[in-house]
Amino acid sequence: MARILDGAALAAAIKQEVAEEVGRLAAHGVRPGLAAVLVGHVAASEIYVRNKVQACAELGIYSDLITPAADVSTEAMLDLVATLNARDDIDGILIQLPLPPQVDSKRLLDAIDPAKDVDGFHPVNAGRLLAGRPALAPCTPAGVIEILKRSNISIAGQHAVVVGRSDIVGKPVAILLLHENATVTICHSKTRNLGEVTRQADILVAAIGRPGFITPEMVTPGATLIDVGINRLTTREDFDRFFKGDAKREAAFAKRGSTIVGDIHPKAFEIAGTYTPVPGGVGLLTIAMLMSNTVRAARMRRELPRRGL
Ligand SMILES: NC(=O)c1ccc[n+]([C@@H]2O[C@H](COP(=O)([O-])OP(=O)(O)OC[C@H]3O[C@@H](n4cnc5c(N)ncnc54)[C@H](OP(=O)(O)O)[C@@H]3O)[C@@H](O)[C@H]2O)c1
Repeated sequence: MARILDGAALAAAIKQEVAEEVGRLAAHGVRPGLAAVLVGHVAASEIYVRNKVQACAELGIYSDLITPAADVSTEAMLDLVATLNARDDIDGILIQLPLPPQVDSKRLLDAIDPAKDVDGFHPVNAGRLLAGRPALAPCTPAGVIEILKRSNISIAGQHAVVVGRSDIVGKPVAILLLHENATVTICHSKTRNLGEVTRQADILVAAIGRPGFITPEMVTPGATLIDVGINRLTTREDFDRFFKGDAKREAAFAKRGSTIVGDIHPKAFEIAGTYTPVPGGVGLLTIAMLMSNTVRAARMRRELPRRGL
């Protein structure tokens, strides 16, 4: 039987440590603050941002939810970022993506003060990460490393294969694994004989955005499978492709009209040594790491020594 890595328990442990850190900072008269910018009304974004604001409240982090209208201009957003950069009560700036098409996302993200870039998307933080300097690392990749370390899965010397090379997941997770002394292979849509490469993985990280793309034939039995993918299935045909006969999923699908599957086929989990489930795995670490980054940013900006996390 494969070992399941429980994202909820790991996220709870990280949040507990963050709450303790917030308590210690309070002794220095510091309350970490996060500005969450939610543009317009994208349903999924509203849920993500609500969860982030709620996590702040639970952990004692100050949050300011700012909700520009869907037709906001790039200039108005740049003014907002400049204001947030200058505010002393704000340590982290989160701009929920995707932004409406008229807003120049790259220009905006580049305008965030790197010291407040708690999403870790700014090129300065990407560069620092690559150079092995202290950096605010992107939350989902940082969460992947936390899952492995806290579950006592050895990384050093292992062959880690990352499928996906996006700036927000694939590339940074590969760099973080390299810093942990894994031998890292990065795959993408132009990789030849993908299955041959993924079968060599001791640790396989899938960040592709395609439901159940990694099939059992692409996995070596006993491997550690880390599934970053979040894909919503809404049709009966898609549901049956992955979960036919799964009574628990069936009940949830009947109730909500959808279910989530990762980038790794559920059948591949059956031959894994260890794996992160979807839902209930990597996804739950992302907000915990955002909270951790916010507290870290608060410390780093004030040059307070780092304790705990
Ligand atoms: N909180 C979380 O847990 C969290 C956070 C972020 C993302 N996600 C999920 O993670 C997944 C990936 O997100 P992302 O933002 O990295 O996606 P992305 O920007 O679309 O990148 C997808 C990557 O997968 C590669 N790819 C696509 N088709 C492929 C194929 N047939 N064979 C091999 N590689 C292929 C692409 O290669 P090319 O570069 O060659 O096109 C690309 O590098 C999504 O399901 C997303 O929802 C989860």
